[in-house]
Amino acid sequence: MNNILLRSYRNLTSKIVVTALTLMAATSGYAQPAGFNYDESKVPEYTLPALLTDSAGQPVADAEAWMSKRRPEVLALFQQHVFGHIPETIPKIRTRLRSEVTDALDGIAVRREITVFFTDDDAGPSMDILVYTPANADGPVPCFLGYNFNGNHSVDADPAIHLSTSWVRDDKKRGNINNKATEQTRGTASSRWPMKMIVERGYGVATIYYGDVDPDFDDGFHNGIHAMTEPDRKLDRSGDAGGSISAWAWGMSRALDVLEVDSRIDGNKVAIFGHSRLGKTSLWGGASDQRFAMVISNDSGCGGAALSRRKFGETVQRINTSFPHWFCINHRQYNDNENALPVDNHMLLALIAPRPVYVASAVDDKWADPRGEMLSLFHAGPVYKLFGKTPLPTDELPDVDHPVQNDVGYHIRSGGHDVKDFDWIQYMNFADKHLK
Ligand code: GCU
Repeated sequence: MNNILLRSYRNLTSKIVVTALTLMAATSGYAQPAGFNYDESKVPEYTLPALLTDSAGQPVADAEAWMSKRRPEVLALFQQHVFGHIPETIPKIRTRLRSEVTDALDGIAVRREITVFFTDDDAGPSMDILVYTPANADGPVPCFLGYNFNGNHSVDADPAIHLSTSWVRDDKKRGNINNKATEQTRGTASSRWPMKMIVERGYGVATIYYGDVDPDFDDGFHNGIHAMTEPDRKLDRSGDAGGSISAWAWGMSRALDVLEVDSRIDGNKVAIFGHSRLGKTSLWGGASDQRFAMVISNDSGCGGAALSRRKFGETVQRINTSFPHWFCINHRQYNDNENALPVDNHMLLALIAPRPVYVASAVDDKWADPRGEMLSLFHAGPVYKLFGKTPLPTDELPDVDHPVQNDVGYHIRSGGHDVKDFDWIQYMNFADKHLK
């Protein structure tokens, strides 16, 4: 009896330790969950699926063949086996200007909140775009567009920004209580959103709370836009129906629909940006919607820029277990079975070619596999070359805090899983080259 009690006590404590480590990793990003590989010498041998051989075994010799034949094949493989289909429903969007201030950020910016309704009736799902543009701009400006994790009111302490009323993950320290944001949350993510610095350099910056589009928990794909975009859905979902990452990518495209017709923004120069799970989203959104002029992935890791076959840090099995709603159901068949995947994530980056793509890692963010993120970009290189673009020159990590920027960009920053001014400065330097 005592033994049984002792055993269940041990089981319970080890579960608590694993849960605590997972939470620490998800929130701070500095702790790396135990039980995963962080040792480069233990990365298994692997062969990446060929990028430049089509399904009929024919070599893909030029940019035209890539665009017309191979690219659609690769895109379909990601839809079928990884993220699932992005909903094809494109609602007739209605927008309403919720607020406008012409002297925000100490007078240098126009700040607007634009509500985007996806249904005819205001009760349906909607999202709020918070957008800053330079007050002194004499024409439309290039713009960064990205989701935030905690509500638009978290990106800047400005008390005039509407407090989000959407579902948020409980976080007492931050001030999210009973799945609702409180006043205390204001500005808590401002270090990740240096709005003033971005606007001073002549860019617009637009952000949306990702939970407006799909709340980030596993509810069997009913909440958020799923209910709206899958009206004829049966009880069983098909294996290739899009998960939350596809839903979020869909929301980014709807935001672009709005920015494209905004007179303060140059719709041909919108860069999609995202950190971590939202970096996975920016890659999938940017790969699927070729209207995005530039794509930025900050510490996106497993399912984002990192190569799955390396099994370094977070693995396919682990991500599908912790976050069963992010990918499509078919993706689960690759749990601990990465070599059977018909794609790896260099192919996700290749889908972005010839448009500029930037991948950023952080040294202490081993969970996201910095080397695997860089290698993905390196192995997407042959497709960039088909377009006469300059890819990453080598498969060696550059020195820490020494960005490499040509037609693709990469850096590994000192520090951990986060978005820092350093990251934004590189994205703007890269955008100066490609969007100005
Ligand atoms: C977890 C998850 C990662 C994800 C990260 C985040 O750590 O395992 O895949 O990128 O959360 O979005 O913060």
